[in-house]
Amino acid sequence: MLKTIKRQLPVLALAAAFGAVSLAPALAADGKALYADKGCAACHGEDAKTPLQEGFPKLAGQSAEYMINQIKDIKSGARTNGQSVDSMKPIVEDLADADVKAIADYLASLKEAPAAAAAPAGAPHPGKTLFLTKTCVACHGKEGKKPLPGYPNIAGQDKAYILAQTKDIKSGARTNGKANAMQPVMHLVNDDEIAQIAEYLSTVK
Ligand code: HEC
Ligand code: HEC
Repeated sequence: MLKTIKRQLPVLALAAAFGAVSLAPALAADGKALYADKGCAACHGEDAKTPLQEGFPKLAGQSAEYMINQIKDIKSGARTNGQSVDSMKPIVEDLADADVKAIADYLASLKEAPAAAAAPAGAPHPGKTLFLTKTCVACHGKEGKKPLPGYPNIAGQDKAYILAQTKDIKSGARTNGKANAMQPVMHLVNDDEIAQIAEYLSTVK
């Protein structure tokens, strides 16, 4: 502790010399540092693009508004599907709102996660046709990348995660946030079609 203080002294002296203004940025919440310090990287990957395991979401390039709402819902218990309670809740439970916002802004600023390898070129992926014809495109945008404000970007997302979330929204296991916007059209897709769409989306670059 004493060592740390000693190390910081010259910096503080320098900052003081330049006036209080130079201290301000150092005190602002640093989303990148928080993402590492709060343990998020352990599961979502250091770069937020390489999650620990299949079924865990990539977060790089995701909508900040969407992520803030999801974390709020996982904290409050409005979202309990999948791994939300076991994996996420204990980590975010004590996270301050300002820290959540700083992390979300940092993650949203990152370049989108890389896609899984696409199948060899040939006929268009059947999942692509389904994505276009089963109304998904209306809310999630071209190739799943240009969602309506506050809606999630689903391009290049982990295949198992897309599959699980789509099924959970269809079955009503996930009803938090704006899921009720999506639920009414889910009768248009069966499990096999959801699997094809998930495979297609996971390969969108
Ligand atoms: C122990 C593993 C683990 C840790 C640590 C963890 N997460 Fe998660 N996170 C998950 C899993 C798994 C999900 C998906 C939950 C589900 O199955 O529905 C998730 C979901 C999310 C979501 C919602 C994603 C979406 O597309 O809806 C956000 C945002 C998120 N995590 C952010 C964070 C942040 C920020 C931290 C650090 C403060 C963090 N996570 C720490 C495992 C973890
Ligand atoms: C009417 C708008 C709408 C339509 C149509 C729609 N969605 Fe969604 N979708 C949403 C919204 C809104 C959410 C986020 C719900 C929330 O706020 O928690 C969502 C969430 C998702 C998620 C979870 C994302 C994550 O990061 O957890 C997936 C996957 C998904 N949609 C896939 C699809 C697929 C596949 C289709 C077509 C079969 C589809 N959606 C059609 C609005 C829509």
